[in-house]
Amino acid sequence: MQYPEYRARRLRRTEALRRLTRETHLRVDDFIYPLFVVPGKDVRKPIPSMPGIHNFSIDQAVLEAKRAYDAGIPGVILFGIPDKKDAVGSEAWDDRGIVQRAIRDIKRAVPELTVIADACFCEYTDHGHCGVLVEGAVDNDDTLENLARAALSYAKAGVDVVAPSGMMDGFVGVTRESLDEEGYTDVAIMAYSAKYASGYYGPFRDAAQSSPSFGDRRAYQMDPANVREAMREVSLDVDEGADIIMVKPALAYLDVIAHVRDEHDLPVAAYNVSGEYAMLKAAGERGWIDYDRVLIETLTGMKRAGADIIISYHALEAAALLAKK
Ligand code: PBG
Ligand code: ZN
Repeated sequence: MQYPEYRARRLRRTEALRRLTRETHLRVDDFIYPLFVVPGKDVRKPIPSMPGIHNFSIDQAVLEAKRAYDAGIPGVILFGIPDKKDAVGSEAWDDRGIVQRAIRDIKRAVPELTVIADACFCEYTDHGHCGVLVEGAVDNDDTLENLARAALSYAKAGVDVVAPSGMMDGFVGVTRESLDEEGYTDVAIMAYSAKYASGYYGPFRDAAQSSPSFGDRRAYQMDPANVREAMREVSLDVDEGADIIMVKPALAYLDVIAHVRDEHDLPVAAYNVSGEYAMLKAAGERGWIDYDRVLIETLTGMKRAGADIIISYHALEAAALLAKK
């Protein structure tokens, strides 16, 4: 019997050969670690649906940010849970608000760590929607006015990157304009460009207390079935001045990441969301999967699809695993 001339197995024979021919490299430099900041002091409250992830008071968030920096992780993204919520989410643009104070304290303690502020209103509104309600629906342009205020206030606090996440039309342009007008031309924008109306956000909404009190987010977040529309969304954000474009969630949208990577040259971020984290944790805890192995495989898949940056609750454990190798 004639054997094939090319034998793919030749290069798989030893670990050294596999290392030499590996196409994708997951690195600690790839990660952004999310932090949930709550009022109070010495608070480190576990989130039941996200084992290993906590709500932190600012002092504890500073310690966790230091831990991330010491592990080699280049950035954190902050989500704030305010003391009091109201109809428009006004603490989001309060210069003494929870995220503004966290930005100041983290930048003071770990100046070299990139601090990113998620800019949305669902954690700040008493109804849990991502903006101002007019006749029961989120009003796009009213919400943009508040986004401009919030972005500016994060910039004043010393943030490196603002990440508008509410999926309002024009949200990148308004953020850029607001920052530039006041001279914050060096503050970058990471746009949640293709953010889908996803069931995978469930655990996050427990962590951030941001579930909508009625209805859902399908009138502003994207339909999971659409990819051409995602490309339009990304193009708009690029034209409006985004510095980093994001696809969210990651795992069920790897094709979207690949398309975006193919058609754009800006850095692409993938958001490995709360529900993806919870699934791996749950299966790992039951002993149904080899958790460490599946974790690295999953994150490598996002990288292989084309992500330059991975926002992940796994960032700290992934950093530890990568350091061990
Ligand atoms: C807020 C926001 C959400 C996430 C990030 N920013 C939730 C949502 O849209 O309900 C989800 C993150 C996650 O699930 O890990 N707009
Ligand atoms: Zn929101």
